[in-house]
Amino acid sequence: MATHLLQLSDFSREELLAYIDRAIALKQETAAGIRHTNLAGKTIALIFEKASTRTRVSFEAAMYGLGGQVIFLSAKETQLARSEPLKDTAMVMSRYVDGLVVRTFSQERVTELARYATIPVINALTDLFHPCQVLSDLMTVIEHKGRLDDLKIAWIGDGNNMANSWVQAAARFSFELVLACPQGYEPAPAILKAAQQEAEGRIRVVRDPVGAVRDAHVINTDVWASMGQESEQQERQQAFQAFQVDAKLLSHARPDCIVLHCLPAHRGEEISEEVLEGEQCVAFDQAENKLHIHKAILEKHIV
Ligand code: CP
Ligand code: NVA
Repeated sequence: MATHLLQLSDFSREELLAYIDRAIALKQETAAGIRHTNLAGKTIALIFEKASTRTRVSFEAAMYGLGGQVIFLSAKETQLARSEPLKDTAMVMSRYVDGLVVRTFSQERVTELARYATIPVINALTDLFHPCQVLSDLMTVIEHKGRLDDLKIAWIGDGNNMANSWVQAAARFSFELVLACPQGYEPAPAILKAAQQEAEGRIRVVRDPVGAVRDAHVINTDVWASMGQESEQQERQQAFQAFQVDAKLLSHARPDCIVLHCLPAHRGEEISEEVLEGEQCVAFDQAENKLHIHKAILEKHIV
């Protein structure tokens, strides 16, 4: 049976660590000039209904890097744009390729594809989750801090798809996750509640960014308006004014605190240019790690 990757809560701590361990090994092997061809003869299709630079290119490079082939489909150029049902799309694609990597709007769209596909469906971002990105983020934290457990990790800003996936990750590891979000912009209530029940007090939502970052090992942020929320840009600018990750906020964290941003970043909004381009920011390591994590994901799922 096809194994999908739709949300992090579908996986155990050991399974999540296995992706990360494999990605770290693949990164080392790439640096040593070791190449793999274990997906030779396999083809995946990427169906993207939203823009992407990193996720698209790193999934494509990962698949080619493992000897496989990729077909990229911008959804607006497919029959999906003319209302062909996801069910039919899933059944047809299953006859052609060995896996689907999907970026779309509602989580229900990837769930629907997975229900009818006989091939694995991998969530490359929905409005609700960005699980593959958070695997890269967790890998980046391990590279820089040597562990995930017993860290204090602060999320500053919108309780969006990235935040929801971080909340699910926090239920699997024993780091403390403190999310500072303006009222009305918290993570999805059902996801938060489910994770908090598992995490025994380690996941908290607060209003004060300074309190959230105090003694933090990691600060994490993301855009104030995600893809699909462009019409809310102005009201969000107002709501998030006090939630910029700048040098002043960073000064309240541990001196060796690292700053994560999944990119693309809006300098001067959720993060200052000084912090984004400063020594404590590891956003470009995160971006690189997407390549290695996506190889680890493809190796496990595309069989
Ligand atoms: N971080 C990330 O998913 O970037 P893209 O939107 O460029 O894929
Ligand atoms: N929260 C952002 C992440 C982009 C990678 C968005 O959904 O647009």
